Amino acid sequence: MAFFSFSRNALILTLFLITSLMVVSGSNYFQDFEITWGGGRGKIVNNGELLTLSLDNYSGSGFQSKKEYLFGQIDMQLKLVPGNSAGTVTAYYLSSEGSNHDEIDFEFLGNLSGEPYTVHTNVYTQGKGEREQQFHLWFDPTNDFHTYSVLWSPQTIVFSVDNTPLREFKNLENKGVPFPKSQPMKLYSSIWNADQWATRGGLIKTDWAQAPFIASYRNFRANACFFSTTRGPISCTSARPNNNPWFSQKLDPTSEQKLKWVQTNYMIYNYCTDTKRFPQGFPTECNV
Ligand SMILES: *[C@@H]1O[C@H](CO)[C@@H](O)[C@H](O)[C@H]1NC(C)=O
Ligand SMILES: *[C@@H]1O[C@H](CO)[C@@H](O)[C@H](O)[C@H]1NC(C)=O
Repeated sequence: MAFFSFSRNALILTLFLITSLMVVSGSNYFQDFEITWGGGRGKIVNNGELLTLSLDNYSGSGFQSKKEYLFGQIDMQLKLVPGNSAGTVTAYYLSSEGSNHDEIDFEFLGNLSGEPYTVHTNVYTQGKGEREQQFHLWFDPTNDFHTYSVLWSPQTIVFSVDNTPLREFKNLENKGVPFPKSQPMKLYSSIWNADQWATRGGLIKTDWAQAPFIASYRNFRANACFFSTTRGPISCTSARPNNNPWFSQKLDPTSEQKLKWVQTNYMIYNYCTDTKRFPQGFPTECNV
């Protein structure tokens, strides 16, 4: 596709030109998403304002965006499965297609009532992942909706919760680490049973007496550039009302501080410190 031969500067220039045209789109799940599997277990309700996914002993369910994104600030409010959710996994991720695909992942691993969810994150570039970091949260993600965001710019990828960054994956192409920048991604979410591995190696089995397990979604916002499979590149939404450009180069000092706070207090796994797994030395991005 001609699109992939766009130089980065031409792309950025195009994005800025188009941004000035400002197409504003509201949040409507009928308009932005399609339920892709689960035989009626995924539902869009309240005139498109709310989406729910459910899992029972027969099946999980899932949805995907109609659009493909190429850079953007993607925000979604999620309320995770309450109570005993051990064994369930709710995934929320951006992914391109094919064997050399790129992917930016959030996965929420359920737990026994009162025990913390694990937020699992990963970044795939050109088909290769193995960059897991895991966190606990500083609040109960099942009581209420919270905003889970991915900022994806040509310089960096930032995972945040309620505007607090958990993780940053910088563009280190100059050090030889591939960075997602030319394959458009769709947004996906699904809920399924993973009690073979998601409870610390299968320690706890899903309690089907608690089914259906339901995760809810609202207030989706993509401040992004779109790619259309039929029409090609590109149109972009307007800048945020608060004028905080998603295209920004890097985290501001306050966000850097918050990131540090999360990593110090809530990170429970980091591939970059897993010496058993990388006896020959850590991946390049870990040493920068
Ligand atoms: C699922 O659960 C229902 C209700 O508990 C039960 O009747 C049914 O046999 C179960 N089905 C499977 C495939 O386990
Ligand atoms: C579940 O709770 C235990 C105990 O607090 C914790 O170690 C674990 O990380 C939690 N998450 C999962 C997915 O097991």
